[in-house]
Amino acid sequence: MSSSILITGASSGIGKALAFELAQKGYSLALASREADMLSQVRKDIIAAHNPPAVAIRPLDVTDYDDVFKAVTEMSDELGGLDIVFANAGIGLGERVGRGDFEKARRTIEVNLIGAIATVDAAAAYFLNRGKGHIVGTSSVAAFRGMPKSSAYCASKAGFAIYLEAVRAELYKKNIDVTVLYPGYIDTPLNNMLKNRPFLISVEKGASIIARLIEKRVKSSTVPVYPWNIFGRLLKVLPTGVIAKM
Ligand SMILES: NC(=O)c1ccc[n+]([C@@H]2O[C@H](COP(=O)([O-])OP(=O)(O)OC[C@H]3O[C@@H](n4cnc5c(N)ncnc54)[C@H](OP(=O)(O)O)[C@@H]3O)[C@@H](O)[C@H]2O)c1
Repeated sequence: MSSSILITGASSGIGKALAFELAQKGYSLALASREADMLSQVRKDIIAAHNPPAVAIRPLDVTDYDDVFKAVTEMSDELGGLDIVFANAGIGLGERVGRGDFEKARRTIEVNLIGAIATVDAAAAYFLNRGKGHIVGTSSVAAFRGMPKSSAYCASKAGFAIYLEAVRAELYKKNIDVTVLYPGYIDTPLNNMLKNRPFLISVEKGASIIARLIEKRVKSSTVPVYPWNIFGRLLKVLPTGVIAKM
C-alpha cells in the first residue's frame, strides 16, 4: 500500500511543489489550505502529471483550530489512513515593530505558531491512537536569529521549532517520528518580492530535498542542507550591527 501524507498550505509554494514531488513517488495525498479553487486546480494538475493513488482536498484555515482536528480525521478517513502530517501552512507579512503593524504580528503568530501547533496536536492525537506516525513541521532559518522587519515571523518559527523538539521528546518511544525543517530562501510567493534572497533555490529543488529528508525521517535539517547548516550557525553569532543591515 502507498504511503499517505497530509500537507497544510498545499495550494502554493513548498506545499504544492512537495505534493507534485510525492505524487511522482506514488504517495496518496491529502491537501489542505484556505483556497478551495486553488486546491482543485492543484489536484487536477497532479492527477494529469502523475496520477497518484489518491488526492483528497479540503479547505482549511489553520486558525480555525477546531476544524484542524476535524480535518485530520476526515482526510484520514478519506484516504484510509495517514502516515505523515506536514504542518507547513504559513505567512510572512514583513511586520515592523512600533509602526502600527501589531495586527500583522498577531496574525503571524496565529497562523505560523498556534495554527501549526493545532496541526501537530491533531496529528499527535491521531498517531497516538494509531500507534505510529511521522510529524513534519516547517520552521525556517529565521528561527536561528531574530531579523529586522520580521520579528513576529522569526518568533513564530523559533517557537514552532522548539515546540516540535518538545513534542519529539514527549513522544519518545511512541513510534512517532518528528522532523523539523529549517528552509533558507526557496523561490515562492512568500518571498518573491524581496530584493535580497541569499542562496535562493527553486521550489522544485526545495521540494525534492524536503521529500528526501522526510523519507530519511531526519530529526531536523536546513533546506538546502548546505550552506545553511553552516550559515545558520554563523547567523547566531553575528553582531547586531551586521544583523541590523539585513
Ligand atoms: N519560501 C521560503 O523561502 C521559506 C523559507 C522558510 C520557511 N518557509 C515556510 O514554508 C511554509 C510554506 O511557505 P511558502 O514559501 O510555500 O509560501 P506560499 O507559497 O505563500 O504558501 C503558503 C501556503 O500556506 C497556506 N496558508 C496561509 N495561511 C493559511 C491559513 N490560515 N490556513 C491554512 N493555510 C494557510 C497558503 O494557502 P491559502 O492561501 O490557500 O490558505 C499557501 O498554500 C511557510 O510556513 C513558510 O513560513 C518558507
